[in-house]
Amino acid sequence: MAATLKQVVDDCKVPGEFLSDGAEVFLTHTEDMPVSAEAYWSAFRDFVELQLHMEGHENVRVLKGLGEVGTVVSFYYDPTDLAEGQREMKLVEKDDSTRTWRVQEAAPNELYKSYEMTIKVEGTEGAKVTISVRFVSAIKDRTQRRQDIAYHMVHLLGARIRDILNFIVREKMGGKHRFDLDIRCSREKMWGIVGNFNDVTWIRESTHTVVDGIYRTIYFTEDRSLEVRLAWADSSDYLFVYEGDNSPDFLHCKYYRGRIQFFAVNPNRVRVTYDCSFIPADDSPMEEFKKWFVGALNSRISWLETTFSEPKPGEEGHNPATGPPAFKKGAYSTGAGGIVRGPLEDVWKAFRPFGRECMEYWKIYDSMEIEAPGNDVVGCIRLFKTSKTKRTIRERLEWRDDDSHVEIYSLLSMNPPPPVEMSNVYTTVTMTAVDEKQTEVKFECTFDVSVSFAVSSIQSNQKGAYMACINGLQELFHSEVGTLEVVVGSAADLARTDGWFDADPYVVVAVNDGKPVTTKVCRGTQNPIWDERFQLSVTSRTRNAIFTVVDRDTVGQDDIMGTANVNLDELTSGKEKKMALDVQGGGTLNVRLYLKMHDKPKEPEGEKLITSLAIPFLAPVAQSELDTIRNEFINLITSFLGPGQKYELSYMTRLRTHPDVALEEMPAACVPMPTPEMFTPHKTGRIMQRLMEFIGSQAQIFVRLAEVKGIWDPWKANFSGYLPANERLIEEWQKDEEFCRQYLQGINPMVVALCKDQSQIPAEMLGLKGQGKTTLQLMEENRLFIVDYAPMLGVPATPGKFFYAPIVLMYREELAGGKSRLNMLGIQLTRDKGKNEVYSPESAKTHPNKYMFAKMHVQSADNNLHQFLYHLGYTHLGMEPIVVAMHTHLPPDHPIHRLLLPHFKDTVGINYLARHSLVSRIFPITDPMFATSTVGGLVMFLNEWRKYDFMEMSFPEELKRRGFDEARSDGLEGYFYRDDGFKLWNVYKTYVTGMVNHAYADDQAVQADKALQEFCKMTEGPGQLHGFPREIPTKKLLIDCLTNIIFNSSAQHSAVNFPQYEYYSFVPNRPAQLSSPMPDGPNDMLQSAVLEALPPPQFTALQVLLSYMLSMPSQTAITGVEAMKEVYPDVHEKFNKELLDLSKEIKTRNEGLKGEGKVAYTYLDPENVAMSIDI
Ligand SMILES: [Fe+2]
Repeated sequence: MAATLKQVVDDCKVPGEFLSDGAEVFLTHTEDMPVSAEAYWSAFRDFVELQLHMEGHENVRVLKGLGEVGTVVSFYYDPTDLAEGQREMKLVEKDDSTRTWRVQEAAPNELYKSYEMTIKVEGTEGAKVTISVRFVSAIKDRTQRRQDIAYHMVHLLGARIRDILNFIVREKMGGKHRFDLDIRCSREKMWGIVGNFNDVTWIRESTHTVVDGIYRTIYFTEDRSLEVRLAWADSSDYLFVYEGDNSPDFLHCKYYRGRIQFFAVNPNRVRVTYDCSFIPADDSPMEEFKKWFVGALNSRISWLETTFSEPKPGEEGHNPATGPPAFKKGAYSTGAGGIVRGPLEDVWKAFRPFGRECMEYWKIYDSMEIEAPGNDVVGCIRLFKTSKTKRTIRERLEWRDDDSHVEIYSLLSMNPPPPVEMSNVYTTVTMTAVDEKQTEVKFECTFDVSVSFAVSSIQSNQKGAYMACINGLQELFHSEVGTLEVVVGSAADLARTDGWFDADPYVVVAVNDGKPVTTKVCRGTQNPIWDERFQLSVTSRTRNAIFTVVDRDTVGQDDIMGTANVNLDELTSGKEKKMALDVQGGGTLNVRLYLKMHDKPKEPEGEKLITSLAIPFLAPVAQSELDTIRNEFINLITSFLGPGQKYELSYMTRLRTHPDVALEEMPAACVPMPTPEMFTPHKTGRIMQRLMEFIGSQAQIFVRLAEVKGIWDPWKANFSGYLPANERLIEEWQKDEEFCRQYLQGINPMVVALCKDQSQIPAEMLGLKGQGKTTLQLMEENRLFIVDYAPMLGVPATPGKFFYAPIVLMYREELAGGKSRLNMLGIQLTRDKGKNEVYSPESAKTHPNKYMFAKMHVQSADNNLHQFLYHLGYTHLGMEPIVVAMHTHLPPDHPIHRLLLPHFKDTVGINYLARHSLVSRIFPITDPMFATSTVGGLVMFLNEWRKYDFMEMSFPEELKRRGFDEARSDGLEGYFYRDDGFKLWNVYKTYVTGMVNHAYADDQAVQADKALQEFCKMTEGPGQLHGFPREIPTKKLLIDCLTNIIFNSSAQHSAVNFPQYEYYSFVPNRPAQLSSPMPDGPNDMLQSAVLEALPPPQFTALQVLLSYMLSMPSQTAITGVEAMKEVYPDVHEKFNKELLDLSKEIKTRNEGLKGEGKVAYTYLDPENVAMSIDI
């Protein structure tokens, strides 16, 4: 359809004088309208609403005004297949006496250097409307420029006039009706016919059509005809719009517009929405005409259903009794087979899903998804991309029989297409039991190909893909065990541990917790050659081979010179691999590895025990993560023992999988770990204890799952033993008040902002009302609040996970007795063309499930934003460069070193752990857990980090930017993060001021402190902490800067870290990801669809585990800081007293809240504020 329009544009003759760069284009067009001039002119009274009816406008915002002259709107202009871009239009004339309306481009942009559109309405009974445009194109490309001008000539001018007419007909005259129908037919098939402008077979009684550009005449039996014009088409939205304005004897309308859109309900069912607009030809009363018209049209529309509906096969599940479908057996064939050590039913169950679940074991795909709406039933189509060829491939599930364990699927298309043409490509997968514990998996494929020389390469490609599936299943069932033969060759440039003396190095090799082996000692060299061979036992392919290089010391204990790891996943069984390993600590270690997997696994008891314990609640997602955590602990501990324990900055290197993401721009990190940063055994023990408490509490989770009654109970199954359920939250989380309260008192109090600028509000949301007031009235009364998740806009999508960059509007609801609270106005998830859907308490009356799902999507976006930006990014990673710079430039007895030291306790250690487990490049835990995946989260952080400014992000400044101050001039009650935060900030500032006054007589003394100035330079420069003062010339700046560091390390981190368990452990409240987008179409969604989008309870273990681990209370609160006790006792005593007073004050407040049945905010009570980022 869009092709039809494009052809007309291409065929249009554009006058030569318009074509040169910088030429002014002037076009004018007049049409008679079937409504009076007064009626037509009335459209301009609703300027904002009218904008939403203009085709090709996306994400409309009203920047200024509400329709009067001077009003400015912005929108993204996206006409079909033409140059698109951001535009701003200003209303410069609206003259009721001459009925002239004029808009101008507010400023030059990428599309137009200048642009003016004038619409003049003349006549009386019938309006004569003249539209003219005058513009200078800014499009550089001559072809595109010509296209845009031609588009104006052949289509846009008339279309704009009629967009306005259509608005009047629908919204002012009531000439509208919607038909909804469900047809058992695929959307593609239906669109293939209806979306083809030359095909009228879907129109009842039509015989043929004659198409002339965007016009077509449809001929019917009885020699009647109807002329329609294409008004709008968008094949990506399966939408097309046509108009007719001269069909008195046929539709009995003076004007008619049909807008047809197709939504896929499932692969075999399409939902059609047919919106029509009309004006009766004889001016009969609208309501009367409607009765006849809707009835007449109804019979035509239902004809569609009988014409397109297909018989039922496949949709409600294929009946195996009818046998597999017959298909054409190609001339060639290929296949593969193997044994998986698991019972038939278990292996079949793992293999059976046709969609993205396959990626769990079939690891040759970048992405895999069942096409909308994603139902895994016979007939569904999967779309996937292979990592190797990067081809996008579509396959259809033709048959699946759970009794005989057979699946047949066919190849539909490849993009880009392969060099030779393939057809009749059918693959049959058969599983049979070898015995109780083993299953044979067989792939057979038959195909035809256009040229025979390609056959052998197709055969080997297919075979490779099938073997990857079988190998993946084998891994999944832990059926591979074997031996690892290691040759420890030589090393070069090892780090020096003995000062000037050469080392006496030897190597200890182990496969994780297996028995280690040791090489001989090479005397007096940093470049030893061992050349020794060992054989080690391998119990699982997920293990690491760990090499530890040690210096034999004749006097004391041997020193560890460094370590290196190899993940066995990197090795191919039966193939030797030579590797030069980077030794963490310095130097290179050359090894040769030969992995040989046995056919028959020997299952040591220990492995069996761990598996049987872990599988029920953590498999398959969390099993490998637990391994990773354990491995990283081992790495962490061994790295403490390494040499060269200095504080040094290093930069993250780019991921092999995402070379375009500039990770080196992240804040610099301290790598390797200096010895003083080692966690105490007690702390390590507490972390492990927390892990074991979690595991212990998961016992009998399946029993609890089996006993669920309420629909949300499955997500409560994780709570037991050491893990208490947050009963209040589970009771309240669905309420709007609780949703809003969490923005003020929850885990992420960092995003809500007072809305003082109407350009922030999407045009669709302007009409929302709270307590009878419009958004603009609320804004004027300082009662409008907004959350804009714009940082999510730049995040790349990940298969199977769906997220938005929503906009939330809330308002301060006034309650009896002068009280108030934050409450909901509405949510917009998208920023697309046309009218974006708004979900609100009002829409919830008819669409409660969609409203709840919209709120869940907001919470999911908030979760990702909170963790990657405000928690991990701005506190954990952002503070690390300061730690390194302090240890590098400020000696231990320097007053600032003394002051800051307690606030950096364990920060480097916990960050090391986070980098190696949470966002690790080897196996990031965040990857499966978050909607953005790890790389998306880091991309979001980097985008924001480039704009970050340390001093501007200080607590008072950051709040000020969101419209909040210490005096609470915003009038918001219960924003305890703000209230308690300001009090704490003031206590800190007094404390820091006391210290600075003691240490520095005046500004000159600050300037003269060379160590301090070097510290600043390093933090801002190599440390990459943007906005940190490069030099500090005054006491004032020094006080602000130090207060900011201490607040961010203690209070800020505590506020965004410790509420994690309270708000994240019940997953529906804040899901880290959702597996489906908001469904299209006019109806509400099913509650079951909301539930299905949530991660299932047994796989949410990761979110619960992480929230439990990271909420581990600190054992060093700020009330225990004694940094100034010895040197400036008066400063210390005052600080301590003020903290305790504040703690008392907050406790009293919290008691009062509890008395009123409200939620206490305890996170900024000084007794709960950790002195540093230590978890
Ligand atoms: Fe943290």
